[in-house]
Amino acid sequence: MCGIIGYIGKKQVAPILIAGLRRLEYRGYDSAGICVLENNNLETIKKRGHIAELEQELNSREVLGTIGIAHTRWATHGEPNETNAHPHYDCTGNISIIHNGIIENFQSLKKLLESEGHKFVSETDSEVLAHLIEKFYSSDIESAVIKALKQVEGTFGLAVLCKNEEKIIVARRGSPLIIGVGEDEVFVASDASAILEYTKKVIYLKDNELAILSRDNYEIKNLDGVVSDFEIQEIKWSLDEIEKVGFKHFMLKEIFEQPRSIENTLRGRINGGKIKLSLNFNPKSINRIIITACGTSWHSALIGKYLIEKIAKIPVEVDYASEFRYRDPIIRSDDLFVVISQSGETADTLAALRQATVCETLGIVNVVGSTISREVKSGIYLHAGPEIGVASTKAFTCQVTAIILLALYIRQELGMDIDQRLVEEFIAIPEKIKIILDKSEKIKELSYNFTDAKNFLYLGRGVNFPVALEGALKLKEISYIHAEGYPAAEMKHGPIALIDENMFVVFIVNKGEIFEKVVSNMQEVKARGGKIICITDCPEEEMIKKLSSFIITVPETHEELSPLINVIPLQLMSYFVADAKGINVDKPRNLAKSVTVE
Ligand code: G6P
Repeated sequence: MCGIIGYIGKKQVAPILIAGLRRLEYRGYDSAGICVLENNNLETIKKRGHIAELEQELNSREVLGTIGIAHTRWATHGEPNETNAHPHYDCTGNISIIHNGIIENFQSLKKLLESEGHKFVSETDSEVLAHLIEKFYSSDIESAVIKALKQVEGTFGLAVLCKNEEKIIVARRGSPLIIGVGEDEVFVASDASAILEYTKKVIYLKDNELAILSRDNYEIKNLDGVVSDFEIQEIKWSLDEIEKVGFKHFMLKEIFEQPRSIENTLRGRINGGKIKLSLNFNPKSINRIIITACGTSWHSALIGKYLIEKIAKIPVEVDYASEFRYRDPIIRSDDLFVVISQSGETADTLAALRQATVCETLGIVNVVGSTISREVKSGIYLHAGPEIGVASTKAFTCQVTAIILLALYIRQELGMDIDQRLVEEFIAIPEKIKIILDKSEKIKELSYNFTDAKNFLYLGRGVNFPVALEGALKLKEISYIHAEGYPAAEMKHGPIALIDENMFVVFIVNKGEIFEKVVSNMQEVKARGGKIICITDCPEEEMIKKLSSFIITVPETHEELSPLINVIPLQLMSYFVADAKGINVDKPRNLAKSVTVE
């Protein structure tokens, strides 16, 4: 969602804010703005569009000052324009705020404030915070913020400047905020990538905490103003990991990083054929597993259902987090509740997790220190490194890797043998992915056939059905081509009506028990004129050659591991189609990397 960066120290703040916004742009990018405090004066510049527009504006005027806040917006209330962009002022122009999250009672607060004479200029829910703080301000901004936040329902990651005080007040409920601790300088940001260039020492602000940042000091309190304990943690990511290092887009870089990121997920977790995970529950006491997630992470969850049931023999239920939280779900004390989230901040996933109070919980999360990672009882970090491209790629394959580890671990702890050929194949996956990546130029050429396509179907069976869903999601989110994923056999119950010579159909076909069945589905498509793109480990099969218009060969592997291989050409194909269409794949329209609102 929206991104926040703030700085107080001795350096000129505008370049720091712009650099931070650039790194946060992937979170939301319909407008952006900064506010700088200098000599008891607040100067604000806002622009609709990408950060580049704001930067251009800043190049044309001098904005001096060493204290400032900045925001990149992903609209929730009010269209993307300069007025609705943050920062927002109060009526006097003395107070400036930036806000992530949603103020749920903003309409009643706005009505009340308007009746007291406050004048609103934007359509946003956030502006209410500036006026509410103004209402309580006499001479101390900290206590005004505390009083204002007591009136607020909803979520906030908030940073506040007041022209009379050389400090930044920040507060958090539901939207992530971290404090970066430097030498004679302090930062605030919605995620670490914005400040990594300057410091690796961070404090993760907790819900209902407030921090007062001054040039050489910071204090953390709760929302009643009582000083809280905190811990300074060290970020492990390097700057290189958040740069494009020669790739045209982050998405492409992240696709190519997968051999290494999967190795990182595996590192230290397989030893002498045994699976090592430090989890705080005994698998013998688990009778059912519930997995909730959103988006791509939900596709990993669905793969988890197939694999955990097959490998560990425990029943698994999978739910969209947004549905789970509102449907009176039954959770029992002998359940294991698993949440999967790249960011560890997705609002619906977090809310679902908070319902699982009676059972063991496990997070499969990438971002270290994120809210979900702190609230689960056990965790498996992906160690995939920062994922910046909005369309998730390496997080997906690392999530699937973590799920396979979990399934094998549970099997082992339940006293069942682990198939060592599977383990060997598992360790070989990064090398096999490299074989596909080495063929990326061929996949690129093939992708140029699809730039004018209007519709795609993605079909797969078994553990590759969720891969079909993920392939379709990748294509639609970055190339804006309509795409649907289906279990191959379900095609006959509806999608077959859509098939004609304009329909491209991607089949995921591996050797194995259901090979013949999938080939029959291919025949049904071919008979209706559909054009088949086949992702397969058996391109030599007569029927594959006969029925396919395009074939992408992938290395053979164990069926359980095949999603890790089959998804790679689908990611590459989506990327190359979108890039050929001239779309900025790292910033597809209307999407946000981390959805921290409902
Ligand atoms: C957004 C992103 C997706 C992601 C989903 C869940 O929709 O664009 O790429 O899969 O959120 O995010 P999470 O961080 O919980 O995995």
